[in-house]
Amino acid sequence: MEIFYDKKTFSEYIKTQKEKNKTIGFAPTMGALHAGHISLYKEARQKNDIVISSIFVNPTQFNNPEDLEKYPRTIDVDIKKLENSNLVNAVYIPRVEDIYPNRMERKHYNFGGIENEMEGAARPGHFDGVGTVVEELFVQVQPDNAYFGEKDFQQLKIIEKLVEVLNLKINIHGVKIHREENGLAMSSRNMRLSEIEKETSSLIYKTLKQVNDWTKTLNISDIKEKVENIFNQGEMDLEYFMIADEETLKEVNSISNDKNYRAFIVVNIGNVRLIDNLHLD
Ligand code: PAJ
Repeated sequence: MEIFYDKKTFSEYIKTQKEKNKTIGFAPTMGALHAGHISLYKEARQKNDIVISSIFVNPTQFNNPEDLEKYPRTIDVDIKKLENSNLVNAVYIPRVEDIYPNRMERKHYNFGGIENEMEGAARPGHFDGVGTVVEELFVQVQPDNAYFGEKDFQQLKIIEKLVEVLNLKINIHGVKIHREENGLAMSSRNMRLSEIEKETSSLIYKTLKQVNDWTKTLNISDIKEKVENIFNQGEMDLEYFMIADEETLKEVNSISNDKNYRAFIVVNIGNVRLIDNLHLD
């Protein structure tokens, strides 16, 4: 696996691959890698000549400075994990000036409204920051295929829109959520949970599965009340729970058969913010 720490040498590598007509599959990350990230590269390995990873903790997508500061940074272990996976040809670990050559600023995007729902409402500027860094990475990596986890379902939809708005020829692929054995969605933030908190957090996925069953018999306001009651009792703090249309990401209060819906949840445990979602069948 090749490792690049700056834009210049990385761009030369990409140029060489392009000259050889190699197809490129790409999944960007912020590091603190886990099996969920690796699942993106497994997917990418299926249909690309070259699989590329990037690791960059992007300051402009953090609306909370403390969250940025506390974000886990485990670069040496990350490189080993990528190497051991045997799935990745090259990892790009840019410096801040490789991504933000002038000022470290977010661009402003119009993603047709989905940027204002859920995480967009909870974290102002977040998706502008994600759009800014992913657009720049797409320019530098020039992928044919790019892979994003359904764990951040709204982000996946935002990236699909980004490609459409910028008219880029990149196929965006969504990858299923990879979970711990107890159901907890894998996340870099899980490193900050104690063993007991990890066990407690399994309630999030259990609840989502119950929600899926409840949608068959109960109306949405009753389901919301049940979910709120579940989290009122424990040491987890429910930030939001909603059922939304998968296309518009707007919260709905009833379900119709011709559309796809997904339950979305955010829970805080201690000062760790956990997000999860489940497609409703
Ligand atoms: P990060 O949180 O490191 O996630 C990188 C990619 O891994 C994202 O596409 C995310 O959805 C996916 N991922 C994380 N946990 C997963 C899991 N349990 N199962 C499947 N996929 C999972 O998302 C970001 O970084 C950043 O916003 C980024 C896109 C890199 C832009 O800075």
